Amino acid sequence: MIIVEERLLELLERRLTGDRYSHSIGVADTGEMMAKRLYEENKLTLLTDKESFIARVRQAGLLHDYAKDIGLDQLRIIAEEARDFCQIDREEMEMAQLLHAPVSAYLARKDLGIEDEEVLEAIRYHTIGSPEMGLIARIIFVADYIEPNRTFKAAEEIREEFKDRGLDRAIIKACDHTINYNIVRGNLIHPNILCLRNACLRRQ
Ligand SMILES: [Fe+2]
Ligand SMILES: [Fe+2]
Repeated sequence: MIIVEERLLELLERRLTGDRYSHSIGVADTGEMMAKRLYEENKLTLLTDKESFIARVRQAGLLHDYAKDIGLDQLRIIAEEARDFCQIDREEMEMAQLLHAPVSAYLARKDLGIEDEEVLEAIRYHTIGSPEMGLIARIIFVADYIEPNRTFKAAEEIREEFKDRGLDRAIIKACDHTINYNIVRGNLIHPNILCLRNACLRRQ
């Protein structure tokens, strides 16, 4: 099903808090900017249809936090229902800041009829990452850190890294930030973030 962006924005505005709505638009805009930059640098020459690629990146950006304003108990109920759609592991079930990602992907398909596997993958893995994730997911993973509403110091460093050294180096820096953040706070660290970082390092 093709869902036009205006319709998506209406749905999101009703569903998300003001800040989250602005953040989602920021991720879509930043993802578009990153995709255009990758085209300019001829890193995406194999992709023939630039406009449709950018539209898919925008869709993933707009929907990546679709379930973010749902409480942990309700997220867990929906996650149980989503088990046939994707595997959700123990760490994700324990933390709302992780669990909203697979639930957002599940609801994007169930409620909005999104069937683009790469868009769904980008939504599903925007928190923990995945070593095999495709280009739309890699763009959204970084865009989520660097969209203009993100003002923390690491966001600026990741922005610069993307500009100076490209997408994989920006992903590595984003992983470093998340790993350090969780170590300092004594939080659980999801193993995917380490696997993603290793995969990007091996591609260098
Ligand atoms: Fe998120
Ligand atoms: Fe986000």
